[in-house]
Amino acid sequence: MERATEIALLEELHGLKNSKLFYLDEVVHKSPVARYMSGARFAAEKRDIFRTLPLIAAHSSELPEAGSFMTRDLAGLPLLLTRDKEMNIHAFLNVCRHRGSRLESEESGCKRAFSCPYHAWTWNNEGNLKGVPHQKQGFPDLDRDAYKLKRLPALEAAGVIWVVANPNAEPDFENYLGPILKEFEWFGMPDMAIAASNTITIKANWKMLVEGGIEAYHFKVAHRHTIGPHFLDNLSSYRELGAHMRSVLPKNSLKSLKDMPQGDWKIREHSNVLYNVFPLDQFLLMEDHVAWISARPISAGETELRLSTMAPSVEVAPEMMSHWKRNHQITVATLMEDFDVNAAAQAGLESGANEFLTFGRYEGALESFNKTVESFLGETD
Ligand code: FES
Ligand SMILES: [Fe+2]
Repeated sequence: MERATEIALLEELHGLKNSKLFYLDEVVHKSPVARYMSGARFAAEKRDIFRTLPLIAAHSSELPEAGSFMTRDLAGLPLLLTRDKEMNIHAFLNVCRHRGSRLESEESGCKRAFSCPYHAWTWNNEGNLKGVPHQKQGFPDLDRDAYKLKRLPALEAAGVIWVVANPNAEPDFENYLGPILKEFEWFGMPDMAIAASNTITIKANWKMLVEGGIEAYHFKVAHRHTIGPHFLDNLSSYRELGAHMRSVLPKNSLKSLKDMPQGDWKIREHSNVLYNVFPLDQFLLMEDHVAWISARPISAGETELRLSTMAPSVEVAPEMMSHWKRNHQITVATLMEDFDVNAAAQAGLESGANEFLTFGRYEGALESFNKTVESFLGETD
C-alpha cells in the first residue's frame, strides 16, 4: 500500500468517527437466498470461478527447498506441487498417465522423482516421464513426451503459489493479480511463514463466510466477549482492488490520531486490514501477524476452511512456537464466533423464513463482493 493511501484511509475513518458518521453505501440491497442454497448456482460457481480463476495453492514457504513437494485438493482436483532444482514451481494433476492411479499419496516432503504405486511409471519433479518398467516390449513405440504429467497453469509471486484448476486455462495472471500482489509485497508476505494451522468444516455457503468478515456492524454484538470492546462501533471502510477487496476495520486507538503527527500514523497499529483475495482466501492483518482463512467449498451448504497464523519467518522459531500456538487459538476462537452464526444463518435459509438477506448501507462491501461473483458467472441452467 502506498504511504499516501495508508494516510488517506486513516484520515477518512478518523473524519467519519469525529463527525459521528459511518461509511455508507447509497442504498440497501437484497441478496436472494438461492445464491447460498442452490446446487445449480454452486455448480456454476465451480465451473466459472473455482475452476477458472487463479487460486492460492500454497504459501511459498510451504515448499522451502529444491525437491520440495506437496499434494492438495484444488477446486476438487488432485494437485501435485513441486519445486525443481532451479527453485521453479510446477503444478500438476496428481494422476498417473498410465492407467490413472493417484501418483503421490504423501501430503508433503522432498523428492526428485514420483513413482506410481501401481506399475512404477516414474516422473521427475518437472513432470517428465523418466521410467517405464519393461517398456521395450510392452510399449514399443511409447512417446514419452506425450505422457508428461498433466500441467496446470501456475505462478509464484509475492510469496504465494497461484494455480488455475484447469489444464486448458490460459490465465492473465498479471492482470488478475496485479493489485493484490502490490499489497502482499507491502505487508511482507514473501518473508512470512506459517506458525500454526488447522482445518475445520463449517455448514455454510462459502460466500456467507466471506460476507461475515467484511462488515463491522456485528463486532459489538457477535464479538462482545472477545474483540468487540477493542473496536469502534460499526465503523469500517472498503475498496475494490480489481476482483479483490481491502477492508479497514478501525480500533478504538484511531481516536488518538488527532494528537499525533501524520508522519507517525500506521494503519496496522490503529486498525485491522482485511484482504479478500477473490474468490477463496482472506488475509486479516493484525499488528504483528496475519490470520489466513482459506476456503474449499464442498457444496452449496458446506465449506472446509484452513485457518493459519502467519508471522515474519524470522519469528517462527522453535522458542516462539508456544506464543504463536496461543495466538492461533485465540484467533480461531474469535473466528468461530463468526462461523457459528454463519452456520446458524445457513440453517435459517432452509426454514424458508427469508426470500432474501438484507444488506444495510453499512454492509455495502457484501453487495460489492456479490457483484464480483456474478460478474464471473455465465449462464446457469
Ligand atoms: S497406473 Fe500408474 S503405473 Fe500403472
Ligand atoms: Fe466477525
